[in-house]
Amino acid sequence: MVQRSLHEKLRVAILFGGRSGEHDVSIASAMSVIDTLNRQRYDPLPVYLDQQGNWIPHTTPHNAQKGIIGSATDPFPLLAHQTDIAFPVLHGTHGEDGAIQGLLEMMDVPYVGPGVVASATGMDKAVFKQIMQAHGFPILPWILVTSKQLSDSADRVVERIEAAVSYPVFTKPANLGSSVGISRCNNQTELIAGLEEACCYDHRIVVEQGIRPRELEIAILGNDDPQASTIGEIRPKAAFYSYAAKYVSDDSELLIPAPLDVQLAQQAQKLAIDAYRAIDCAGMARVDLFLSLTDDQLYVNEINTIPGFTEISMYPQLWTASGIGYSELLDQLIALGLERHHEKKTLKRTYQYAPTI
Ligand SMILES: Nc1ncnc2c1ncn2[C@@H]1O[C@H](COP(=O)(O)OP(=O)(O)O)[C@@H](O)[C@H]1O
Ligand SMILES: [Mg+2]
Repeated sequence: MVQRSLHEKLRVAILFGGRSGEHDVSIASAMSVIDTLNRQRYDPLPVYLDQQGNWIPHTTPHNAQKGIIGSATDPFPLLAHQTDIAFPVLHGTHGEDGAIQGLLEMMDVPYVGPGVVASATGMDKAVFKQIMQAHGFPILPWILVTSKQLSDSADRVVERIEAAVSYPVFTKPANLGSSVGISRCNNQTELIAGLEEACCYDHRIVVEQGIRPRELEIAILGNDDPQASTIGEIRPKAAFYSYAAKYVSDDSELLIPAPLDVQLAQQAQKLAIDAYRAIDCAGMARVDLFLSLTDDQLYVNEINTIPGFTEISMYPQLWTASGIGYSELLDQLIALGLERHHEKKTLKRTYQYAPTI
């Protein structure tokens, strides 16, 4: 990392774009982050990661959107010599799954947001559920199916699913986001179609009990002492919060705060913090819960370790509603990233074995 005097601004590399289905969402998020970063304290360095995996510094999200792209560079000197802290504003594959976090760890560059384990766990719906189960946190009944099992014997797979969950069920690729490849299946024919669709995106598929949920979202901020924001609620107009509902016909209703009684709200916030800690999150995450309309039960649905960051995204909006404005939120996230990096620096990286006689 670059050494600089206390009075110089921190150079923040905003990494955006990426080889992911959520490339365009990332551009929109990065636009807001760069526009909001306090210029008195930070020097933002936009770094566009294109769909082919090239790293292109000094290309702003506005330019990336217009197709005005600079020239690619080697990411290593860029991170090592021009960056005090990296802010991966990347969603999905390679950005939110621990890959970029691993690269930054290797290069000893501080970064905003959760580390490798939390990112990878948050991204993998099956591993995430297993960890929630191990902690005894409430999740919906589910089973894991592989594409190999499906090609060996679809009948056996369907039998196993129907013994574990009842229709409607949701079929989800284990490692994806933004509702891509997710189907709501009301019967066996739809189940087979849903499994085939999910198989296009991953060889591991989560099949989950469908319910009629209220969808609650809670923003968490912090390292060792994470805090929960006020609770938000999404009311999709469509049958579920699909890709189209999220990004195409943006007519879902967003309620902040979610109308909930105080006790239930506190229970939801505690569950969100517990889940955050369970996967070793640091910095930030948005924890999504379901509240079943039939029995008022809370369920952990998922954790997004790099949530949407546009001004109208839930994560910054929840903090604004909780008294932390967008710019101050970015200050805190950067401070938390630096703090985590500093703590790691104090760890011993060598071991001298000294036998006791
Ligand atoms: N078990 C379920 N019951 C009812 N609706 C669900 C269930 N699972 C997912 N959904 C709907 O599908 C959406 C996307 O599912 P989710 O697991 O959050 O995947 P993603 O990571 O793509 O956001 C949810 O926001 C919700 O609207
Ligand atoms: Mg979701």
